[in-house]
Amino acid sequence: MLTKTLHEIELEAWSERAAIYDDTFAGISSQAIPPILDSIGDLKGARHLDVACGTGHLVAAAALRGAGSEGVDFAQAMIDLARANYSGARFQVADAAQLPYDDAAFDAVTCSFGLSHMEFPEAAVAEAYRVLRPGGRFAFTLWCGPDDGGTLFAIAREAVAAHVIAPPRLPEAWTRLRFADARLCEQIVREAGFVTPSFERIGVAHQSATAQPAIDILDRIAVRSRLILESQSSAIRARIRAAMAAQIEALRVDELIRIELPALLTVAQKPASESERPS
Ligand SMILES: C[S@@+](CC[C@H](N)C(=O)[O-])C[C@H]1O[C@@H](n2cnc3c(N)ncnc32)[C@H](O)[C@@H]1O
Repeated sequence: MLTKTLHEIELEAWSERAAIYDDTFAGISSQAIPPILDSIGDLKGARHLDVACGTGHLVAAAALRGAGSEGVDFAQAMIDLARANYSGARFQVADAAQLPYDDAAFDAVTCSFGLSHMEFPEAAVAEAYRVLRPGGRFAFTLWCGPDDGGTLFAIAREAVAAHVIAPPRLPEAWTRLRFADARLCEQIVREAGFVTPSFERIGVAHQSATAQPAIDILDRIAVRSRLILESQSSAIRARIRAAMAAQIEALRVDELIRIELPALLTVAQKPASESERPS
């Protein structure tokens, strides 16, 4: 029986898979970097923080646009790799719900595919609000779910449903923000005090010549699907992998397999003045 909290599960997972994440999935999540940075305005001279920064690519891209950018992540291994990737940039270990910064320290805060891994995403949104200056922008992305164009998640769900006989006991509410939900995102940012939330669907896709890299994402990287697969016998796990491989292969066009992974970008603003603050 699983007795760990989601926070413990996530910290353990990200502490041991930084390298494989960077080698495989960071290339996919990085497709969201340009639209995220476009959404927070001119970054020249801006103070910018990336929360749940992973291996550092968004921080480096923001710095290229002229921002004084830094990143935090709660996994030491992620921060070590971010520092190795970009030795000139500033990274530190910190929890999104307890940021080691003063109030109003940043002009912009981002969180790329981080909130879906948090037990209490509301706490991270509240912290983003606190460390933003009045008028500053907060932008975050979440993956669209299996019923909303997230083909890779749909493939995993189907294969698991077809072959898992005894699913493991996972934490009751995995997280409120597991997948993109514009209404919920709006509610959470408004509750924190943000105004003018807006939403943009971003096209992200995984492309490869074989099915293996996509199977690896589900079997070795994605926290929840890996937990489910690890809880199964090797025979069942092999059946799930084979079912996923067949569905992934079915997406092949000529030499290339393309799997859609759309994301939702939410952008909201901290009120510029007291009079704009919602009552
Ligand atoms: C899917 S990865 C995203 C990494 C990167 N932002 C990207 O887009 O590639 C999720 C990241 O969130 C971090 N994370 C999860 N919960 C966190 C928390 N409570 N505080 C800070 N970082 C957290 C993990 O360590 C991991 O690096």
